[in-house]
Amino acid sequence: MNDGPATASAGSPPVSAEPAASGSPAATFGRFDLTGRVALVTGATGVLGGEMARGLAAHGAKVAVLGRNAERAEELAAGLVSEGYAALATPADVLDRPSLERAREAIMQRFGRVDILVNAAGGNMPGATLSPGASFLDLGEEPMRGVIDLNYMGTVLPIQVFGAELAKGGHGSIVNISSMAALRAITRVVGYSAAKAAIDNLTRWLAMEFGRQYGGGLRVNAMAPGFFIGNQNRRLLLEEDGSLTARGRTIIDHTPLGRFGEPEELVGTLVWLCSDASRFVTGVVVPVDGGFAVTSGV
Ligand SMILES: NC(=O)c1ccc[n+]([C@@H]2O[C@H](COP(=O)([O-])OP(=O)(O)OC[C@H]3O[C@@H](n4cnc5c(N)ncnc54)[C@H](OP(=O)(O)O)[C@@H]3O)[C@@H](O)[C@H]2O)c1
Repeated sequence: MNDGPATASAGSPPVSAEPAASGSPAATFGRFDLTGRVALVTGATGVLGGEMARGLAAHGAKVAVLGRNAERAEELAAGLVSEGYAALATPADVLDRPSLERAREAIMQRFGRVDILVNAAGGNMPGATLSPGASFLDLGEEPMRGVIDLNYMGTVLPIQVFGAELAKGGHGSIVNISSMAALRAITRVVGYSAAKAAIDNLTRWLAMEFGRQYGGGLRVNAMAPGFFIGNQNRRLLLEEDGSLTARGRTIIDHTPLGRFGEPEELVGTLVWLCSDASRFVTGVVVPVDGGFAVTSGV
């Protein structure tokens, strides 16, 4: 498999651009460079995670593509390699520690280090959402546990499995994926919202804990996407002909920028959080939401 444009050999320290004279634009641009860094993206077989994996690769990182769907992971990694990037498919289940440990082994064997962990695996589950007219009082226990497990424990386990490796290189950056649902009450979406709110809390707690333990060598931040068309929400937001559903219209009306996000619009914030450009930033949850969060609706 092609190792692409990344120049550092496995195990060698990341190559970062020499900062130019302080205050010059070059000094800032160089800090966004991820050349020589190794990134693992969970949920990379999905819509947003896939775009984030591509974005990190385009900024110089070698990328491990993780999801349960091995065929999709291989396809995505092969696509990145064919574009000249370094990528590796590491199929695994974020709720299954042994499979994550196998992924870690494969990454260490291939790239020799891990600097970046993006926890994008997650999503809602139908049974954890109130169907129209249903009551919270009747909501099933199992789906609620399932959605909390996937979104919360599915972030906790990868951090536990990869944390020690992330801290070793001195450039560790964890980026969790939260949601607007953590911040604003969104009708019907109860279990998922609670799980993402727990992600915000975990992000702040771990930023404190890892900051004390590793200093700037391991930072923890999160991004809270607003509304992007993904596999899970497409039918809720768009009709067959691509027009907005009533719910989709309500969301757009509440979004000052007047549209859904494009997955590639997550990349700028992600690269900033993964790179030395944000080296004094830890414990924040950055909304990428077209202004949804700050809008009262009045
Ligand atoms: N789309 C939005 O508007 C939006 C807004 C806010 C937040 N988010 C969050 O952004 C993330 C990505 O969402 P998306 O819209 O891109 O959804 P998506 O296309 O459905 O992707 C979800 C990803 O999670 C992976 N996944 C699910 N269960 C897994 C497991 N047990 N182990 C490993 N991987 C697992 C899926 O891969 P496999 O099927 O291959 O396992 C897939 O790659 C999620 O955390 C979601 O909650 C999305």
